[in-house]
Amino acid sequence: MVTKFMTESAPNTKMSARDVKVFYGEKQAINGVSIDIDMDNVVAFIGPSGCGKSTFLRTLNRMNDTIASARVEGDITLDGENIYSSKMDVVQLRARVGMVFQKPNPFPKSIYDNVAYGPRIHGLAPNKAELDQIVENSLVRAGLWNEVKDRLTESGTALSGGQQQRLCIARAIAVDPEVILMDEPCSALDPIATAKIEELIHELRGRYAIVIVTHNMQQAARVSQKTAFFHLGNMVEYGDTSDIFTNPREERTRDYITGRYG
Ligand SMILES: Nc1ncnc2c1ncn2[C@@H]1O[C@H](COP(=O)(O)OP(=O)(O)OP(=O)(O)O)[C@@H](O)[C@H]1O
Ligand SMILES: [Mg+2]
Repeated sequence: MVTKFMTESAPNTKMSARDVKVFYGEKQAINGVSIDIDMDNVVAFIGPSGCGKSTFLRTLNRMNDTIASARVEGDITLDGENIYSSKMDVVQLRARVGMVFQKPNPFPKSIYDNVAYGPRIHGLAPNKAELDQIVENSLVRAGLWNEVKDRLTESGTALSGGQQQRLCIARAIAVDPEVILMDEPCSALDPIATAKIEELIHELRGRYAIVIVTHNMQQAARVSQKTAFFHLGNMVEYGDTSDIFTNPREERTRDYITGRYG
């Protein structure tokens, strides 16, 4: 595979993985993946269930650290800095590389406090007025402000599923991340809420590097400019989304996108 020998990164690369392997105990889940993620393109990870999309995604902000049996080998950098170095502050890393999960997971706190949580713990707002501004800006950017501006003290968990997911995106945005990782962010949402998140991804593109895992190939085609196809722990193919969907190089990719398995 060409990607195995990739060493040089393009100048606008935000994150770079080289020969990343992940093990759960004895079992290897990722077999040496190399990929560059830049600021200009939304990257979609696709592939059949169990191929390692979530596992690899979690290596990008060290969420695998929370799984006792998980072990990561290889190099992953953020702006050229090794994120697995002992000097890396993991709390800081997860603010810089935010994550949005499959199931919306707002804290059982007010809408305001959900968004203010990160800025508070990271000391990003010196006073209440500035915190208010961060909360508002984040909710505006997440496309939720108009729906919640009159009910900021209500619980985040009282929102609809789609609103909760946008709240989680606002929470990620509030700490001014550089990268946003999304693991099937729409799989629990109806088509209208899904369309809103997809629209939001378009709007966020360029400001943040974005990686989205999705089972929905139409969604990958709609929201991403680059697509990586994973199969059995390997990244089989990575390229422009238009090429992956119309003219894949690998037979396994073709089989997957034409619905032969998965
Ligand atoms: N916490 C864990 N402990 C042990 N094995 C795990 C763990 N999480 C994932 N695995 C295994 O690692 C492999 C990759 O799983 P992963 O969840 O990354 O796949 P996925 O592509 O995200 O699948 P899906 O599309 O179903 O979400 C699978 O074989 C899975 O069983
Ligand atoms: Mg997964």
